[in-house]
Amino acid sequence: MDFKNEIAVILDNQLDNLSMEDILSLLEIPPNVDMGDYAFPCFRLAKEFRKAPNQIAQELAEKLEKPEFVGDIKNLGGYVNFFLNKDVWVRDVIGKCITQGEDFGKTGYGQNRTTIIEYSSPNIAKPFHIGHIRTTVIGHSLHRLYKFMGFNTIAINHLGDYGTQFGKLIVAYKAWGNREIIEKDPINELLKLYIEFHDRAEENPEMEDQAREWFKKLEDKDQEATELWQWIRDVSLKEFNKVYEMLGIEYDSFAGESFYSDKMPTVIKEMEEKGILQDSQGAKIVDLEKYGMPPALVMKKDGSTLYITRDIAAAIYRKETYNFYKNIYVVGTPQELHFRQWKKVIELMGNEWAKDCIHVQFGTVSLEDGTLSSRKGRVVFLEDVLNRAIEKTREIINIKNPDIEDIEVVAKQVGVGAIVFQELSNSRIKDYQFSWERTLSFEGETGPYVQYTHARCCSILKKAGLDLTSEIDYEILSENEDVVDIVRVLDSFEDVLLRAQGKNEPHHVARFALDLSQAFNKFYHDNHILSSDADHKKAYVMVVNVTKNAIKNAMWILGMEAPEKM
Ligand code: ARG
Repeated sequence: MDFKNEIAVILDNQLDNLSMEDILSLLEIPPNVDMGDYAFPCFRLAKEFRKAPNQIAQELAEKLEKPEFVGDIKNLGGYVNFFLNKDVWVRDVIGKCITQGEDFGKTGYGQNRTTIIEYSSPNIAKPFHIGHIRTTVIGHSLHRLYKFMGFNTIAINHLGDYGTQFGKLIVAYKAWGNREIIEKDPINELLKLYIEFHDRAEENPEMEDQAREWFKKLEDKDQEATELWQWIRDVSLKEFNKVYEMLGIEYDSFAGESFYSDKMPTVIKEMEEKGILQDSQGAKIVDLEKYGMPPALVMKKDGSTLYITRDIAAAIYRKETYNFYKNIYVVGTPQELHFRQWKKVIELMGNEWAKDCIHVQFGTVSLEDGTLSSRKGRVVFLEDVLNRAIEKTREIINIKNPDIEDIEVVAKQVGVGAIVFQELSNSRIKDYQFSWERTLSFEGETGPYVQYTHARCCSILKKAGLDLTSEIDYEILSENEDVVDIVRVLDSFEDVLLRAQGKNEPHHVARFALDLSQAFNKFYHDNHILSSDADHKKAYVMVVNVTKNAIKNAMWILGMEAPEKM
């Protein structure tokens, strides 16, 4: 039963001037349980009814019918508050959890709709650093969220693997690079080559010309240039994959910028045909002044294309290849203007689906000693962050639970989980400063706390050794306030998912995992689960089981592992 919907129906019967949708969007979950399980604010009705909100609420509360699933209806201030009938509610929610089992929360909502999530997308031959943590972790979680909700998903890594800098790298490599040294530590060594290129080019400007020539060769598919570029791409990807492996990330496609290089002429031609291109000192631009934006430069004087041109080609390719419902880009706020220009250009080309392309942005990560700068050596590698979290977890386990089997596996699951959860526990839009201290603090509302709650559930279930298929006495459960609190959280899951997906904000799921963990731990402390009589034990153990399934699924969506012991 969808209680929120049923309550909206009762209200709808009395309110001619509001649609079901209006009512559903107005219905709130009150901040505390004394105010009921759902509340309907009457402030918006005041003008129309020419009455004070409290009076409207009071009259409504008296007038509304009260079906069996509603325990009580009261008005508090300008709100009508609904108290669900606990017997009906608990039976319904727990019953549904039991039926769904490990598929708790899956509704198939997204069926037959393909959503692309593009995320992480680092630049090859450059460090994969703490600045990439957000796109990587938020993107991964969004990918899983959509998948969990039944969408057909395509995860894409739009690698930065194209551009004039590869001409520079090839020049530097050919002049003083060493393959063996590079293969031992690819990213750092390639970065050194790149920095040294700039230092040397200051005195030898002809190097810039050579770099342009090599990039041109690359564009013309010259064999040597292509082989070197391919090698740089391969060794870079091998490094990035270490992090993806630690995070459990898998992609459907690594079609990066280079993938679109041969699609440029068609795109330019199409823009030409649509009449949106203008010449500007030999270059080609799309004038966006009318829309309050600087022009989009899509082709340079020398005929070479740009980042935005490749993004335009990529969007068109994706529409043709996947016929997406939504095409999501998880990229930081600094690229906001780029994505606004890009979307406008796609729209001006006459593509009505431009509206389905979404830039999901997030705030910037800075370091305590200033901004990240790989040139100045101010860079924190993502791999190091994860490794240090794993190391710290191993130390803690060695103190608290030294006899645990598979300590390496558990340390990895928990260390990585801590980083991931921390990243997802706040709204994505805020900027923040990276601090080792905060990153490695596992106290309070953290990933390990949620994982620990799950492991606790697993251990109780194992000790109980009960067959979970037989009937339980629901009255035992509806009488228990702690269980009702758990039910309240469980029942919110579908709404939480819709909100998280609607706003592309995984932190709602993180909040759910914390709320459920807190409710469960209270229940665990207040009740003797295993030492009570047989009926109580059976009912309580069922609560443990459904809680375990729910926490596990929430963690999966966040991109965390769920160890059974820790
Ligand atoms: N490689 C880019 C960077 O590191 C991010 C790519 C974002 N995605 C896109 N389709 N433009 O800044």
